[in-house]
Amino acid sequence: MQTPRTDAGPAAPSAPPLLAASRLSPVAGAEIVGLDLSRPLSPELKDAILEAFIEHHVLVFRDQDLSPEAQTQFTLNFGPLEQHVGRLSDGSRYPDVHRVTNLDDAGRPTKTPHTHGNYFWHTDKSYHDIPSLATLLHAVQIPPSGGDTQFANMHLAYDALSEAQKRDLEGLRAIHSWEASRRNTGNKPATEEQKRERPPVSHPVVRTHPVTGRKSLYLGMHTSHIEGMPQAEGKALLDSLLEQATRPEFVYTHQWRRGDLVMWDNRSLLHRALANYEMDQHPRVLHRTVVRGTKPV
Ligand code: OGA
Ligand code: MN
Repeated sequence: MQTPRTDAGPAAPSAPPLLAASRLSPVAGAEIVGLDLSRPLSPELKDAILEAFIEHHVLVFRDQDLSPEAQTQFTLNFGPLEQHVGRLSDGSRYPDVHRVTNLDDAGRPTKTPHTHGNYFWHTDKSYHDIPSLATLLHAVQIPPSGGDTQFANMHLAYDALSEAQKRDLEGLRAIHSWEASRRNTGNKPATEEQKRERPPVSHPVVRTHPVTGRKSLYLGMHTSHIEGMPQAEGKALLDSLLEQATRPEFVYTHQWRRGDLVMWDNRSLLHRALANYEMDQHPRVLHRTVVRGTKPV
């Protein structure tokens, strides 16, 4: 029989943390340096990234040199990839890694890119029955200044509502659709095929984060009205909530550096691009992948 050890000796020095995430703003966002995301993640590192993602809602990995394949592989750590209902200008489907860009077909910067929905507050693919969990953008080309992305923390926005407002919102559901989204943003109207492919869906106006259990507001430019409420009244309510929820105190503005890989939680945030750059002068090209989430409850 072994004698139990009574003297364990000095405690082993604890291992250094796998990643150091430094907060970028009180609202959301943390910066992570020194990682090469083109390499496979160990299970421990993946867990550490997920933990930071849940805590900060937006992760900014600096200095990434990622091929589309490498971005796809990194994205797959967090769930299945999602397809887009939109079409490229030649009518073909978006590839898994597609470009968010202000370039026209000839590769020139323009003030009127094919889609500009990203310049309005939204949460990705809320017009899906099962919307996006995370979106990842890799900064390939960025303007010399501006072209920022803003994130509004919908947990903080919900928490700041009055008790009466919270009571009023209980049980309300908003209708989201691709069609409404195109209309709200002045984009080319949805085609009949797209409308069939993405019929309107309803989601709770207040959703609960599946990991943290925190409540948040779930709205944005893909919404049209509130289920069971006169159209105009529902729209007015959504507009006023949106205005309240995107006040500066809930917003983190990300100023891009080339090589940034930014990953955010669509269950916790609204986001939009800012046209605070000379759109017809400087290219802005981001590579995008999207992870499918779960049905909002
Ligand atoms: C997106 C998006 C914002 C931006 O890719 O989903 O909204 O800053 N992008 O381009
Ligand atoms: Mn988006």
